[in-house]
Amino acid sequence: MSRAVDARRVMERIDALASCSAEDGALTRIFLSPQHRAANKLVAGWMHEAGLEPRVDAIGNVVGRYEGMQAGLPCLILGSHLDTVRDAGRFDGMLGVVAAIECVAALHRAGERLPFAIEVIGFADEEGVRFQSTLLGSRAVAGTFDTELLKAVDADGIALADAMRSFGLDPARVHEAARRREDVLAYVELHIEQGPVLEREGLPVGIVTAINGAARYAVEIIGEAGHAGTVPMPNRRDALTAAAEAILAIERICRGQRDLTGTVGRIRALPGALNVIPGAAQFSIDVRSPDDAIRAAAESAIEDALDGICAVRGVQLRLNRLHASRATACADWLMEQLAAVIAARGLKVWRLSSGAGHDATAMRDLTDVAMLFIPCAGGISHNPRESAEVADIGVGCEVLLDFIRGFKPRNR
Ligand code: GLV
Ligand code: MN
Ligand code: MN
Repeated sequence: MSRAVDARRVMERIDALASCSAEDGALTRIFLSPQHRAANKLVAGWMHEAGLEPRVDAIGNVVGRYEGMQAGLPCLILGSHLDTVRDAGRFDGMLGVVAAIECVAALHRAGERLPFAIEVIGFADEEGVRFQSTLLGSRAVAGTFDTELLKAVDADGIALADAMRSFGLDPARVHEAARRREDVLAYVELHIEQGPVLEREGLPVGIVTAINGAARYAVEIIGEAGHAGTVPMPNRRDALTAAAEAILAIERICRGQRDLTGTVGRIRALPGALNVIPGAAQFSIDVRSPDDAIRAAAESAIEDALDGICAVRGVQLRLNRLHASRATACADWLMEQLAAVIAARGLKVWRLSSGAGHDATAMRDLTDVAMLFIPCAGGISHNPRESAEVADIGVGCEVLLDFIRGFKPRNR
């Protein structure tokens, strides 16, 4: 009998997707780029081979449908994202898409049709690298995409609406990506843990209980540019030194509290010349916590600290809150079904929370969500050294396939 799932093929496909990159020798694939189009094409081909009917939806997600016992039944949605951070690892996101296709391929090969349909989605934007606002693909599907975002511009000044047009999409039709609640039974995502817990416990899979809430800001500090050799130190309104003090304040606030992280991942000084006092500094802030009250308090403390620093230094502060998502609880009834199939395989049932954000965060506005993690070496992620073992990928796919086969929709 042929193997139910082929973890090596999953690995080969993850490698193939890694070649769709904007950079030689590094993996960078951003939303609505030529590499996004190439990845969608590869994934659509694998979907077709696995018996799924593929299409690209109104925001650029690639969506494959495997009908149930009759056409048009409500569906279980599986998937993850196909975009990456800059100089990314190859598993974050892609694993969940390719693994889901592998599970459907196993059903298709066995001629199995279930009392519900399955859809696999490769979401177009989860990381939010291009337009700084995250989860654009899954928010469009969940029906929570804010059309104001169509005006957001990327680092080259290209508006999201124009980037969509260049990709062959019509921004006026973005609402067509949204799904109706009555057509969707649940959303389940397989992902690497991106942390150290499963590896430490020696476990191939874990069930996610909740996903951290998160907020993102774009900050601009406006000072005054001047000559590096002539303006006396006390007379300066240096935007970059103000930003440096602000960043240390963010670190101090977020370090002082359990269940809280704060990160400045991007900074730019303008005009950016060696002999010019920076007249402006732009940077990002990412704040996360599993507890929404802790995150809200940290955000207020950060805003107060930045206000104070800028007032003392005589510089102007512009704070733009780009994105916020509440902490996401995974659904008990889905976690129980995952636990049952893990236990039936003789594996220890381990539950853990997710510090990273996921498409499930947006999808929970549409339907109940659950996530399954597999370990990644050293917990390293958002880094080209990200890696996962083929054996763990195999267990992850098999657990997902068992779950799909036994899936009992909640009575509605
Ligand atoms: C996505 O990976 C995020 O957590 O920012
Ligand atoms: Mn990521
Ligand atoms: Mn991810």
